[in-house]
Amino acid sequence: MRFHVPTRIYFGSGIISQLKEIVEDNFKDFRLFLVTDQGILDSGIADKVLSQFQNIQVFDKVEQNPKFNTVNRAGDIVREIKPDVVIGLGGGSALDAAKAVALLATNPGSIEDYEGKGKYRSPPLDVLAIPTTCGTGSEVTWVSVVTHTERMFKMSIKGPHMFPAVALVDPDLLVTLPPPLVASTGMDALTHAIEAYTVKPATYFTDIFAREALQLIFSSLERAYKDIKTDKEAREGIMLGSTVAGLAFGNSDVGAVHCVAEAVGSIYDTPHGVTNSIFLPFVMEFNLPAAKDRYAEIARIAGIEEKDKNVAAERLIQKIKSLSHTLNIPSFRELDIQKDKFPELAKKSFQNNSNPSNPREVSEEDYLVILEKAFSES
Ligand SMILES: [Fe+2]
Repeated sequence: MRFHVPTRIYFGSGIISQLKEIVEDNFKDFRLFLVTDQGILDSGIADKVLSQFQNIQVFDKVEQNPKFNTVNRAGDIVREIKPDVVIGLGGGSALDAAKAVALLATNPGSIEDYEGKGKYRSPPLDVLAIPTTCGTGSEVTWVSVVTHTERMFKMSIKGPHMFPAVALVDPDLLVTLPPPLVASTGMDALTHAIEAYTVKPATYFTDIFAREALQLIFSSLERAYKDIKTDKEAREGIMLGSTVAGLAFGNSDVGAVHCVAEAVGSIYDTPHGVTNSIFLPFVMEFNLPAAKDRYAEIARIAGIEEKDKNVAAERLIQKIKSLSHTLNIPSFRELDIQKDKFPELAKKSFQNNSNPSNPREVSEEDYLVILEKAFSES
């Protein structure tokens, strides 16, 4: 059993104002390269970073489900500028892109050359990750997910040197997050916690973080969705829950929910959190024979008082369906996915690296059944 997170975590409301000191305390040289997206610039959040430094280069072209061409373009720039530290500012896409760009800064070639585990020759540049959504967990994990648009595949680039050196987690950065993004990224965090707690590689250590994340997320997500601007306690709860869930799944794994969500996202460019929310209850139904006891424990954490484990697990699944409904998560049909693509989606889901971690063995045919069930009930 092993638990490894080398990231130094700074957590606190308003802590972004201390970024300069944090950079000075952690890095010897600090020519900075900021990787972010246009939305973060427009929202004014980027100013909180830019105003603290005189010389900082900005790459703001990261898109949803970051694409390999975009990352490679940023890689060309970073090799020319030769910064000391890459700051990732944004949701999971910006943080994953920052981690990939840091790898390209010290290694030749393109990002697709580094698909898999530990393929880099030199350790990537230091990354300072600043999440602005409440779902990714990428600020404390070793993986960067980059979409190869020609292969229509989400590549995982990971390794022990890919953890951000520093994570600055400031719940106040959520104040301007639109409610639909609170909902979808919060449901991503919930999926991380549930999968981390139920997958085969789960350990005593990851259980501690997963249980705590579940507690935090169940008690804060709905409140955060309703009033992220003024409900400070909910904001802190969901942000903390998101990072703690990252600590859990980063050391255990995710399971079939992420496998199918990534398959759909690689072809249709759907928001990761929305796709996870749609499939979460259906994968849980499939997993029941293998994960009933764990689901019953999660039900208790979610406030469901029921002694019969089967009933408790069923009630948890219903609770998650109604939570998605309350949060106005779009339905499967609204994603406008063609049914004739289901076999391809099932195949891609099955090929996902995390598929073997799922608590119950899932075949390609099983994924097809899950897709069809989710579609017919949406
Ligand atoms: Fe996720």
